[in-house]
Amino acid sequence: MSEAIRPHAEQQFAGELAELAAVDDRPRPPGWRLSPQAVVTYLLGDGGKITPKYVGPRRLMEVAVATLATDRALLLLGVPGTAKTWVSEHLAAAISGDSTLLVQGTAGTAEEAVRYGWNYARLLAEGPSSKAIVASPVMRAMETGAIARVEELTRMPSDVQDTLITILSEKTLPVPELGGEVQAVKGFNVIATANDRDRGVNELSSALRRRFNTVVLPVPATAEEEVDIVARRVAQLGRSLELPDVPPALDEIRRVVTVFRELRNGLTEDGRTKLKSPTGTLSTAEAISVVTNGWALAAHFGDGTLRPRDVAGGIVGAVVKDPTTDAVVWREYLETVVRERDGWTAFYRAARDA
Ligand SMILES: Nc1ncnc2c1ncn2[C@@H]1O[C@H](COP(=O)(O)OP(=O)(O)OP(=O)(O)O)[C@@H](O)[C@H]1O
Ligand SMILES: [Mg+2]
Repeated sequence: MSEAIRPHAEQQFAGELAELAAVDDRPRPPGWRLSPQAVVTYLLGDGGKITPKYVGPRRLMEVAVATLATDRALLLLGVPGTAKTWVSEHLAAAISGDSTLLVQGTAGTAEEAVRYGWNYARLLAEGPSSKAIVASPVMRAMETGAIARVEELTRMPSDVQDTLITILSEKTLPVPELGGEVQAVKGFNVIATANDRDRGVNELSSALRRRFNTVVLPVPATAEEEVDIVARRVAQLGRSLELPDVPPALDEIRRVVTVFRELRNGLTEDGRTKLKSPTGTLSTAEAISVVTNGWALAAHFGDGTLRPRDVAGGIVGAVVKDPTTDAVVWREYLETVVRERDGWTAFYRAARDA
């Protein structure tokens, strides 16, 4: 069988999940594959065989997991690249063993994507029947007692968002065409993600907001934490892409993270120089992709070691999103900070020419 480019969390970490389930003797909420404690261990790792997926405050994950064991749904909020989607996938995998019951919110998301649609050929041939219904991922999650995921909730039109109100408060999905309903089975709940930056696009109605507990995922607190996240994820991604081996390059990763953090915070790490921030978000997720791209460059076109020139182009691309204002911000940073810094000469040259 050909291999998936990106296996789902429950496939990729099937071994860890099975191992946790085998030793998990704490009570499991109805419909859950693991106890809440074991779910948190799965997310944060145990320092041994269970690898950390999320790096950040344990308390946030405890609040997220505890919420899902109640009748309230979970809203993961944060700026781009703070692992909202990632955490949502792993939570669904650990709790339900299935992270694929997913609705992607866009401006064009229709009500059928949240409720159900019809197989029109069947509908015309046989009239309305449960067989002619095309269940949405949310409907399937209700029927099977699983976690449904709604990505980018605030991008969906408000009326579509609000179809979740009945589902979340009554735990039922009326099907008026058949004079019936689908009642959610125990274990059903919803994890939604939304982007801080998009707030106001289609602000959640207060009725819907009340059905959610909100957990805000922060940007990594310290540079060390961010380096750790990037190094871990790059190693995982490189392995799954089967990139040729390149020695781990913590120095280069630290440099990418330093540039991103300084520009994001508008201040150099020593606190001495104020900087202008570019228009983009410079998220951890972008740092991960800059380093992964650098790895591919180093492996295929470089000398097999991650060098400043392998990351310089990626960094400039991430920083300069707007060719006029960001280019000025970048040039100023390059000339006033990068140029003067010990050990950064090769990077300065590569970035200047990128
Ligand atoms: N604290 C963290 N712990 C572990 N991984 C992280 C962390 N922060 C970011 N990442 C990594 O960043 C990548 C992007 O995360 P993800 O796509 O979940 O972000 P997001 O918050 O959904 O962003 P967006 O708002 O753009 O959808 C993932 O590979 C994830 O592993
Ligand atoms: Mg996301």
